[in-house]
Amino acid sequence: MSLSDRLERARGARRSAGVEAPPDYLIEHAGGTSTAAEPDAAPEERAVPAASAEDAGGDTASAEASGAPSPGGTSDGGGSTRTNEGDSREEHTSTWAALAGDDAAPTHAADPLTDLKERAAQELFRRIGTRLNDSSMTEERLHALAREELGFIVEAEQVALTTVERNRLITEIGADVLGFGPLEPLLDDPEVTEIMVNRFDQIFVERSGRLYESRSRFTGEPQLRRVIERIVSRVGRRIDESSPLVDARLADGSRVNAIIPPLAVDGSSLTIRKFARTPYTVEDLIGFDTLTREMATLLDAAVRAKLNILVSGGTGTGKTTLLNVLSAFIPGDERIITIEDAVELQLQQEHVVRLESRPVNIEGRGEITIRDLVRNSLRMRPDRIVIGEVRGGESLDMLQAMNTGHEGSISTIHANSPRDALSRLETLVLMAGMDLPLRAIREQIASAIDVVVQISRLRDGTRRVVSVTEVQGMEGEIITLQDAFAFDFAAGMDAEGRFRGHAVSTGVRPRFVDRFEELGIAVPASIFRYEPRGYGIGEIA
Ligand SMILES: Nc1ncnc2c1ncn2[C@@H]1O[C@H](COP(=O)(O)OP(=O)(O)OP(=O)(O)O)[C@@H](O)[C@H]1O
Ligand SMILES: [Mg+2]
Repeated sequence: MSLSDRLERARGARRSAGVEAPPDYLIEHAGGTSTAAEPDAAPEERAVPAASAEDAGGDTASAEASGAPSPGGTSDGGGSTRTNEGDSREEHTSTWAALAGDDAAPTHAADPLTDLKERAAQELFRRIGTRLNDSSMTEERLHALAREELGFIVEAEQVALTTVERNRLITEIGADVLGFGPLEPLLDDPEVTEIMVNRFDQIFVERSGRLYESRSRFTGEPQLRRVIERIVSRVGRRIDESSPLVDARLADGSRVNAIIPPLAVDGSSLTIRKFARTPYTVEDLIGFDTLTREMATLLDAAVRAKLNILVSGGTGTGKTTLLNVLSAFIPGDERIITIEDAVELQLQQEHVVRLESRPVNIEGRGEITIRDLVRNSLRMRPDRIVIGEVRGGESLDMLQAMNTGHEGSISTIHANSPRDALSRLETLVLMAGMDLPLRAIREQIASAIDVVVQISRLRDGTRRVVSVTEVQGMEGEIITLQDAFAFDFAAGMDAEGRFRGHAVSTGVRPRFVDRFEELGIAVPASIFRYEPRGYGIGEIA
């Protein structure tokens, strides 16, 4: 079965927001599931609310540093940079170190046939490896061929085996070479959203929003390489010394990034972000406490009023998911052009044209960048331009479009705060190479962007919108920002170690509300009612 089919089958109810016990093949992390057993967590949060926010996106800076754009479009911070996300780095390092210690004790009984299996798998790969890369060959043909060859290989080994043992061996080796080895249970688990293979013997997963280490591991680097080659070759890509990194989208929309030595210093690394067939809706995000209903009402109005919105957040904080939710608020009679590096958005509207950039081909030619697509989209009579993420020179084109009648554009940007988002945008505009004075760039930004929605992954593992910020204009050289909503860290944590607060109104009525009024978009005034900080603390006492 192909990876896409498998993922397809595994999908289903992945809606549960609650956290239940993980299956046996996962190791629970102390750091990922803070409970009442960590009594000092809550007071600490209460004491330093600002630091918590920073923590949440803390390591995105390092992901960013290594994420300079490359022509292959392979630089989206994939790979192992993600494994530390979310919780505090120290906490993880120590937990992981402890886990590594535990693992030194043998947890699995060794299979006496391991050596034979590995030899036979390598021999099979040697014999039919080239055909594994033949995407025109059906899975059934491939399986039949592999079984036949394996019959010969096991025969040649001259080991005394019963028929049952022999068949079991052939099936297991087949699954190893043709399947996905230790990744199988992870691929089949619909609650697993992300699989991160750091090395052959270290696999982490994100399951229901939490990070776990998997007990399964590859037998060695060769098995991991075979699985990687198999995954990338089935989508018509290749990975070898001359092109040691691949960023691919599978037929079902899942994203795969693989990087091998010498670039990956400790051995090959593989990251799979499973594609959500039924994307999260605004109701899901409200259910996950990512958004409050008031904020959803405000954002819905903001989209309908054609404000230009930037979703800002660190790696894997849920920017694309939120962008998808915001895009769903676009009225059905508007023409929407979406522009992405790898198609992820799933808009339900009829009138949508989806564009995807293209990396350079093997001869180093034929690249079509996001920027090329943004420019082209302007000639397609768009009502709305939705850009998956701005990360290069297209920023300038986007700002110009926003300032010249293409209001209501939405995009995401990789940054840890609204202020950072704007300075990053400045840097990206400079990448367009137009040699514009900084003040001119800032003016463009201030007049183009209306709202920055900041999303973060907090220490409790949840993803929350932590602020909705209005870009008001310029004061001297500085762009003025005003929070309309800000996260209430003062509300502390509950007994399960989850933040009790959410983003609450700062009591300041944003100026863009005037625009709602002009357009007759009704928003209840109560949304902006100031709720004093630290509400709920009384309930704990
Ligand atoms: N609000 C949410 N609550 C829980 N899980 C979420 C939420 N939003 C997204 N996710 C999950 O988190 C993962 C990352 O989401 P998403 O792709 O939207 O993040 P991103 O910030 O765009 O990541 P990247 O930086 O890689 O582009 C996905 O597996 C998604 O299902
Ligand atoms: Mg994204």
